[in-house]
Amino acid sequence: MTSVVERLSAELGMGGIVLSERTEVAAYAIDWTKKFSGETPCILRPHNTEEVARCVRACGKLGLKLVPQGGNTGLVGASVPRGGEIVLSLSRLNKIEEFDEASATVQVGAGVVLQALHDDLAACGHVFPVDLGARGSCQIGGMIATNAGGIKVLRYGHMREQVLGLEVVLADGTILNNLNKLRKNNTGLDLKHLFVGSEGVLGIITRAVLQARPAPQALQTALLAVETRDRLPELLTVLRDKLRGLSSLEMITQESITLYKEVEPEARLPFERSYPACVIVEEETGAGESERNSFLERLSSVLESGLAVDAVVAESDTQARRIWSLRDGVTEAISRAGLTHKFDVTVPPAAMPAFLDQMEAFGEEAGELRTLLFGHLGDGNIHVNMMQMPGLSQAAFYAKGPALAERIYGHVAKLHGSISAEHGIGIAKRGYLHHSRSTEEVDLMRGVKHLLDPDCMLNPGVLFESN
Ligand code: FAD
Ligand code: MLT
Ligand code: ZN
Repeated sequence: MTSVVERLSAELGMGGIVLSERTEVAAYAIDWTKKFSGETPCILRPHNTEEVARCVRACGKLGLKLVPQGGNTGLVGASVPRGGEIVLSLSRLNKIEEFDEASATVQVGAGVVLQALHDDLAACGHVFPVDLGARGSCQIGGMIATNAGGIKVLRYGHMREQVLGLEVVLADGTILNNLNKLRKNNTGLDLKHLFVGSEGVLGIITRAVLQARPAPQALQTALLAVETRDRLPELLTVLRDKLRGLSSLEMITQESITLYKEVEPEARLPFERSYPACVIVEEETGAGESERNSFLERLSSVLESGLAVDAVVAESDTQARRIWSLRDGVTEAISRAGLTHKFDVTVPPAAMPAFLDQMEAFGEEAGELRTLLFGHLGDGNIHVNMMQMPGLSQAAFYAKGPALAERIYGHVAKLHGSISAEHGIGIAKRGYLHHSRSTEEVDLMRGVKHLLDPDCMLNPGVLFESN
């Protein structure tokens, strides 16, 4: 009897696409959190859209299921195989194809890594305004499929707001070309939005046209210390008012900073004493001394109000990077320190202080967990991490997950928040979707899935518990 790999290779008839060496396959089969992993016979690594379409058709013909994969930095278990699916890696579709200065648009392959796009546009005096800690690995296709957010949503929105056009390979191998560059194009249903945030269950994104922006003339960055978390909503309101060019507003609580220092003992912390929370602000301003002075004056008025009690203002790009390394470093530190239950939620900003306290109380009650809170303050998006404490076995740690999730998501639903602010549903949250979406909405989502992928070939088990 011939193996899956042999049948696929024969069907594809293209050399260099099928990767089945066990040692090489392993990295594609486990996710970034090390929580989700599975078996796969092989990885398909096409070079272009036509090859993607051939791979999809071949899998369809052989009755094989597919998991699309970009940089494999997703945090909800949707980018790795669960039950023997074939992994379709988009990494080789990594060309930045065209920058159109007049429309400030850029056309890219799905496998372009975010950092490469940032670097390329910087050379043309432009920026791509989505940025996140996984920038060195995550790919544009994966970011579109998860509708990634990150640290600039406050000013520029998610991926959805940047996508003008898409090319997608559908489950039957059809290539849907909608590489639209126009800002204004109201010609019927805007189909690209179906695929943004679809987590690989509706089609394979192969190319995108994205909106670039002129690079800001100057960026002002500061780290503020707050004496009480209770006044974070007021601080948010005042900062939005005083810093009209606000592009980032991030929050890190003390316990997260403590963990960062434990994992990175060499790191120099910005303040000599510790505060309940620190807030990073970044404002886009014009160039020159007067703009800088205006920023400093407006920041001083925030400090005078008592909403923040200390500040470190970056004097150079290097200092700004040091401030940001604290924020990125917390996410990295959590992953290096051990296993964690991740909850990525949105709550109305006014409810945030009580919510933070409640999360710590839930963690305490669950026992032997360390609660770490940080996130995108400007969007009401809190990353709740409940880490395994030393002494708690892996099995006992995992066993705490479902009850914690039920408690946290139930609480979020009562606050009219969202159980997934930016990471998606994937495998991790599919059992809790009802906390944020009505039965009618989920039924309609299933209907769309059935229409586009009747045999459930693409990412089975993602989003819905049963297909
Ligand atoms: P993958 O992980 O490979 O895939 C993610 C999903 O998209 C899967 O369902 C996969 O099947 C699907 N997919 C991938 N490529 C395609 C394609 N071409 N066509 C169709 N489906 C596809 N997210 C945020 O929103 N904000 C953050 O601030 C943020 N910070 C992060 C920081 C770190 C350190 C890490 C590790 C992750 C972070 N994330 C964040 C998670 C985020 O979802 C991903 O980093 C990114 O959006 C996923 O891109 P990827 O290429 O790695 O996709
Ligand atoms: C972040 O903002 O750092 C992320 O979304 C990653 C995380 O939640 O760990
Ligand atoms: Zn985030």
